Amino acid sequence: MLECRACQRKTLNLFLSLGQMPLVNRFIEPEALSCDEKRYPLDVAFCHNCGMVQLADVVPPTEMFSDYLYFTGASEPMRQHFLSMVTEILESVGASEGDLVVDVGSNDGTLLSQYPGWVRRLGIEPSSNLAQEAERHGITTMCDFLNVAAANRAVELHGNATIVTATNVFAHVDDIRGFLDAAQVLLGGSGALVIEVPYLLDMLTNVEFDTIYHEHLSYFAVRPLLGVFESQGFEVTSVKRIPVHGGSLRIYVRPSRNPQHSPIAKEFVSAELEAGLGTNAPYRRFATNVAAIRSRLCELVISLKDSGEAVAAYGAPAKGNTLLNYCGITADMIDYVTDTTPAKQGRYTPGTRIPVVHPSALVERTPDYALLLAWNYKDSILKKETEYRKNGGKFIVPIPYPTIV
Ligand code: TYD
Repeated sequence: MLECRACQRKTLNLFLSLGQMPLVNRFIEPEALSCDEKRYPLDVAFCHNCGMVQLADVVPPTEMFSDYLYFTGASEPMRQHFLSMVTEILESVGASEGDLVVDVGSNDGTLLSQYPGWVRRLGIEPSSNLAQEAERHGITTMCDFLNVAAANRAVELHGNATIVTATNVFAHVDDIRGFLDAAQVLLGGSGALVIEVPYLLDMLTNVEFDTIYHEHLSYFAVRPLLGVFESQGFEVTSVKRIPVHGGSLRIYVRPSRNPQHSPIAKEFVSAELEAGLGTNAPYRRFATNVAAIRSRLCELVISLKDSGEAVAAYGAPAKGNTLLNYCGITADMIDYVTDTTPAKQGRYTPGTRIPVVHPSALVERTPDYALLLAWNYKDSILKKETEYRKNGGKFIVPIPYPTIV
């Protein structure tokens, strides 16, 4: 029987199985097309003791993050997001000239590059290709997973940090207590840790089932997190909802010997209980809605193909690969997928083997329909792709229920 990652009780209920899934960021090189990919079960459970939602299986992190093709800087809206985040942090937490700021899971250094030049910046990033990319742009980066040993090394070399950020990485961590211990070492008793994670409530409400993949071990709400923060000597000073990645939480915590969470954290807990997150009902409803998306999307794409329409996909995010694989939408239904990430172009989508091409294909080839896999950037993409739309191109938005725009 599995143990809950947050409360450590054996109180998990499975509520969704997305089947055997390949690693969704492992885009295939042309010479490997004839090889079979490894697949792993993708089953999701919720803890009826503390409400934490989590995967039932953990793929070893070194298998997922050794050569990682997600580059934050490839998505322009993320630059804007990090600029406003850094501005907010500097205003609310404050920093002095020469202070150290650390970003964990720093990817290609996009977040750190938004800080002004008068702070010292350090990235901690396990994927060597990304760490090298960040270094090329002048961001000092330790190539490592964050744990207490890595944090001690960082402090020895650079001193303690005033601000530690962890955006879209806490959900990737199996040992969340060890991660928080390491953050304590980095901070050395003061300063702030700012975490951004996709919010469970948004995932359930908008049926964002495609954000479920092996890298995302946890699907966080505030309630299960409070006890974890407390046990590792952190108190929550602020929580807010932000629109990024389909709806996320930004949580500020600080070291405290006697943690007293801000009243806003308690308001979140009340709202989560009111939404039934402690009961089976929303998870059952979610599983039913996920199945309905699959039926409708398959029916729609098959009927378009049968009527001779050309269908492509827009964006090759990791989540798009959960969606394509779960729905069984493969290269005989989608001609190609466009993506702004140079490292993905020329490769094929894991499991479904659709060629990834440069975004210029959208206007040059004008498919009748483009399945919007990067739906989290819908507004900015619809604004940007006016020429395609003027030429008669339409988008299929798969989430929360397939629609054509
Ligand atoms: P994203 O949704 O940020 O994350 P994840 O991989 O975690 O699901 O990924 C967006 C992908 O879409 C990324 O590969 C870049 C690509 N993209 C485009 O091709 N065009 C765009 O206009 C934007 C914003 C992103």
